[in-house]
Amino acid sequence: MNRNLVLIGFMGAGKSTVGRACARDLGFAFRDSDAAIEQRAGKPISDIFADDGEAAFRELETATVHSLARRSRTVLATGGGVVLDPTNVAALRETGVVILLWADTETVLARTSRRSTRPLLAGSAGPRARIESLLAQREPLYSAAADAVVDTTGLPRREVVDRVLAVYRRVSCERSPPKPETVG
Ligand code: S3P
Repeated sequence: MNRNLVLIGFMGAGKSTVGRACARDLGFAFRDSDAAIEQRAGKPISDIFADDGEAAFRELETATVHSLARRSRTVLATGGGVVLDPTNVAALRETGVVILLWADTETVLARTSRRSTRPLLAGSAGPRARIESLLAQREPLYSAAADAVVDTTGLPRREVVDRVLAVYRRVSCERSPPKPETVG
C-alpha cells in the first residue's frame, strides 16, 4: 500500500514547495492544509486569527487535518502548529510517513520575512524572539511526531526533495515490507 507522505516543521521550512515537488515525482496528489483551511473558512489565515482567534483556527485545523489524513497517495504539507494537537499527529501517522523538515532560526527568519502572512510572528517582541521561543517549545513535539528528520539548512531545494523521497521510500518499506517471492 502507498502511505501518504506528510511534511511537518516550522513556518518557512519549505513544506509546501518541497511537498509539491515530491508529489510530482511520486505521482501523488498534493494537499496543503493551510490552503484547505482557508477554503473551508472562506478567508485567509491572517483573517481567521484576527476575526476568530487562534483557538478557532486550531479547531478548523484539526477538522481539516483529520479529513486530509483519510486520503491516500497524497503528499500533505501541514501548518507549523499541527503538532500542538496530539490527535492530529495520531491521524497523520496512521496513514502516512511523517517527515520533519528542519531549518535553523536564521533560515526561518530569512524565509518568513519575505511575506507577512503569518500572524504568529507579528508580535511586538519581533520575529527573531518569537521564532526562538516557538521553536524551543515545539522542537520536542516535532521530534516525537516524526518518523525521520531532514535538515534543510543550506541545502538547495532539489537536494531536500531527493533526501525526503529517499527517507520516505525507506520508511515505507520498513512499515510494509515487500511480500516474499513465491517459488514454484
Ligand atoms: C502556524 C503556521 C502557519 C499557519 C498558521 C499557524 C503555526 O503555517 O498554519 O499561521 O502555528 O506555526 P506554515 O507553517 O505553513 O507557515
